[in-house]
Amino acid sequence: MSAKLWGGRFQSGLDPDAAKFSVSLDFDKVLYPYDIRLNMAHSRALQSVGVLSLSEYETLVAGLLQLRTDMDADLEGLLAQDEDIHSAIERILTARLGDLGKKMHAGKSRNDQVITDVRMFLKDQILEIREAIRALIQALVAVAEAHIEWIFPGLTHFQPGQPVLLSHHMMAYVEQLTRDDVRFQAAYVETDVCPLGSGAMAGNTYGIDRHMVATELGFSQITMNSMDAVSDRDFMLSFCSASAICATHLSRLAEELVLWSSPLIGFVKIGDAFTTGSSIMPQKKNPDIAELVRGKTGRVTGNLVNLLQLMKALPMTYNRDLQEDKPALFDTIETVKTSLRCFAKMIPTLTFQREAIDRALQTGYITATELADYLVRKGFPFREAHEITGKVVLHAETHGVQLTEIGLAEFQEFHHDIAADIYRILSVRDAIEAKNGVGGTATIQVQSQIKRVQENVG
Ligand code: ARG
Repeated sequence: MSAKLWGGRFQSGLDPDAAKFSVSLDFDKVLYPYDIRLNMAHSRALQSVGVLSLSEYETLVAGLLQLRTDMDADLEGLLAQDEDIHSAIERILTARLGDLGKKMHAGKSRNDQVITDVRMFLKDQILEIREAIRALIQALVAVAEAHIEWIFPGLTHFQPGQPVLLSHHMMAYVEQLTRDDVRFQAAYVETDVCPLGSGAMAGNTYGIDRHMVATELGFSQITMNSMDAVSDRDFMLSFCSASAICATHLSRLAEELVLWSSPLIGFVKIGDAFTTGSSIMPQKKNPDIAELVRGKTGRVTGNLVNLLQLMKALPMTYNRDLQEDKPALFDTIETVKTSLRCFAKMIPTLTFQREAIDRALQTGYITATELADYLVRKGFPFREAHEITGKVVLHAETHGVQLTEIGLAEFQEFHHDIAADIYRILSVRDAIEAKNGVGGTATIQVQSQIKRVQENVG
């Protein structure tokens, strides 16, 4: 263990197992650029209130900049058995600059420091995640645009329901991701608040200009209660909740790609770069990336629950428990970001298979609802129309024919109001174009939705 930050009142060192148990360096080392930047802003604040002289401040900043360069080049080489990244940076700086390295720590605590670092880190990560969402939206919109003519079986209960445009189906995912983006944006706003200056929990005694520090660190606001500031992890909960919802959306898309790409259904082929073979079964082309995205959803949801449990019943203010927030947060960031990026690259490799899709459209009497709607337009109450249509479907099923293969005379046995225009009504194309209200699957509606999204995502 390196020199302790709190040695004075202790007569013995930490038990070796306890020391090992306390270390967070393995995961919090990723915060080093933020911690260095924070130390620079804090030193500036200390200089402006006269705790550091100008030359001391300049020496510290030079030392911190050098440390940043050195850590960028070889982080592992510089780290020792430090407890966390904050103590590592303090240790190295003190070794290089002597007591000046220790002077920098007036007016702050690791309690306000760590959470300021994490907020800075998370803000950058949210921007990357939002960029990945944008890329995935663009990929899905491109598929929608390229397949605007394609008719696809729309399902409820995984049973043929009504025909839709394949583009409409793709755009459904775009809606989900657009809402995800809004949630991540909100999480960003919540994260963009600077706790530095809250000290250990009660504030600082040096008259530090917190607004100046916050602005220097790129924050829009400062926290307003030091006790809440050092113990608040709500912004992480919001981020992890947005992530869990986003991952859940990805799992739904993943599931569909797994099903569609199975030869049992055969609607789509996924590019080689995102599938794998089997060591025993040479015919296999497995959708591993989609499966992994689906599987990793469990981790992301688990991380949210993990954080909620961490926060539950935690008394004011900072408690060491809070150190455990980072593995869950970091894993969430990494998982959601890489899932989104993989999907954004995988979607353009999809090749939809017209024959299999057309074949599927021939099963399940997918336009039966059109007949019911047709009868409603003739003045029937919907329930009655539904009943007649059910009988027609049963008839078709018993005779092994499509609805459009039923003769007009046969149709009229079910009801004399059914006329020759029924054949056009029962075509999948007409069924689609009839759904011409906003949000429906008619081509014009889908095209204008594509256009709206393209204007927004640029
Ligand atoms: N590594 C700690 C964390 O991540 C930093 C704060 C430690 N503060 C303390 N008083 N022990 O939460």
